Amino acid sequence: MAASAPGKLILFGEHAVVFGEPALCTAINLRAEVFVRPYKEWRADGGALDEPRYRDVKGAVEKAKARAPMWVEVRAMVPSGAGLGSSAAVTVATLGALHGIAGGLDPPTIAREAFEVEHEVQGRASPIDTSTAAAGGALLVLREPREDLLWTIERDTRRWCLHRARLPDLEFVIGNTGISAATGPLVAKVKDRVERDPRAADMVREIGRITLEGLAALQRRDLVQAGRLMDRDHALLTELGVGHEMLDRLVAAARPSSYGAKLTGAGGGGSIVALTDRPDETVGAIRAAGGKAFVVRPDSAGVTKQP
Ligand code: PMV
Repeated sequence: MAASAPGKLILFGEHAVVFGEPALCTAINLRAEVFVRPYKEWRADGGALDEPRYRDVKGAVEKAKARAPMWVEVRAMVPSGAGLGSSAAVTVATLGALHGIAGGLDPPTIAREAFEVEHEVQGRASPIDTSTAAAGGALLVLREPREDLLWTIERDTRRWCLHRARLPDLEFVIGNTGISAATGPLVAKVKDRVERDPRAADMVREIGRITLEGLAALQRRDLVQAGRLMDRDHALLTELGVGHEMLDRLVAAARPSSYGAKLTGAGGGGSIVALTDRPDETVGAIRAAGGKAFVVRPDSAGVTKQP
């Protein structure tokens, strides 16, 4: 049995979403595939499940309460530590394969379980990347339910309502700094700032407004306005303390050939996303500035059983 799940690209709202502000995310055409087969003991790519790099797989195995041990194999096209949701994709695909072997595969159940795994592995988090990996396509996260609600996820006193969002067919250029930064400490850093500084709390709310304006701009294909909002979002995230000199360098390289560019995901390293209709030029500029660059497209398929 095998299942796959997509990586994700946060277009607007990272970090702010942890505080319940809106965020917009799309699944991308870089997927993780996980194969499982009954075996006499638990194995991950032939080794022990206890190795730190298999903590998402192990978390998913514990959550799925598999009855018999399995040999698990992981293949991920999503680069890890790049802010593109590789751990969420691996968690969701593992849950997909384990549920698939036992029968059905229910995306809302997998989204909830994967969020719990991510919370245990990473610490404070939002369900944005795990739900996007489960649902595929574009998702708008809001505090209150509206039309096009997919599911709701709650934790402590927080609630996220995950909605289907419709975006025009767009290509995005990713610029990866090659610097991997753990999400947990970055999320904790922003929390600390927001608790101590009311200006940081205002910035989080501004990111929330930018997300809704950005979605509206993308939907009416006003790429100039969407790009401006991306630039502003990048500045706010940097002020919140999750920027990096290399992210600024890649954003600066991408902007002359783009409508806008911003860090995507947790920051502190990881990647930028540029909105451009000259992808080759943007890819070349990011590479010349020392980043890895590639083009991604939205992927409408969420967690999927493989034949
Ligand atoms: O870099 P990633 O893929 O871990 O994205 C994290 C997005 C945050 O908003 C920073 C955290 C979260 O869980 O929502």
